[in-house]
Amino acid sequence: MEIKVFQTKEQIGAAAGKIIADIVKNDPAAKLGLATGASPVPTYRYLIGQYEAGEISFRGVSAYNLDEYCDLPRDDENSYYTFMRRNLFDHIDIDPANTHIPDGNAADTDAECRRYDALIDSIGGVDVQILGIGTDGHIGFNEPGDSFAPGTFRIKLHESTIESNSIYFKDGKMPRYALTMGIGTIMSAKKIILIATGAAKAKAVKAMIEGEVSPACQASILQTHPDVTVFLDEAAAELLTSEK
Ligand code: GLP
Repeated sequence: MEIKVFQTKEQIGAAAGKIIADIVKNDPAAKLGLATGASPVPTYRYLIGQYEAGEISFRGVSAYNLDEYCDLPRDDENSYYTFMRRNLFDHIDIDPANTHIPDGNAADTDAECRRYDALIDSIGGVDVQILGIGTDGHIGFNEPGDSFAPGTFRIKLHESTIESNSIYFKDGKMPRYALTMGIGTIMSAKKIILIATGAAKAKAVKAMIEGEVSPACQASILQTHPDVTVFLDEAAAELLTSEK
């Protein structure tokens, strides 16, 4: 794992965004694994800026999102479908037909999970996967547990996740379930960029980088991936022994 510590979120967005922009420049049909949450937003802003400056085009790019809430209308203001449109897709020239996200409202959840895995298998895994991290060490919505999930599945969200994410649901009706790529799906990415900022993430970041590889901290599996870069601010890095 390569660890990079920055002063500001904007610096992280520019550094992570440049890696993705270079991938898109080298391969106009690049396959991008995308994430929601506040962490990747400055990276998306950087990519939008590069598009507006005429530096890159997403016309041939396809996108695969990590996860989506269950039992939330697709067009709800808090769905990840809406999030991706507002924060990236509506501002670039990506073909909406090339943007993929699990359908949290599918009548047959198992079939939807298998469809999503088959789609990602068919491209041989994404070229680069962006990740944030939950305060409990989750990536996507892979909550702490006894094992690492191989493929996309439906998960009951843990209390700490509900607490962290319910700030976005003004009516308090945060969904209790989600569909998420499994750890196996995430690990099939050729390259992984994980972004974490703020002191609330410091414990999870330490467990991910310096803890044992264990499903109790799902992000710790990234220690075994050959190409992971972790972008942190000083607050998120504050508990790392190696950074002191
Ligand atoms: C959600 C998402 C994760 C994300 C996490 C952290 O739970 N499912 O993919 O990494 O939130 O979000 P934030 O970046 O807002 O801290």
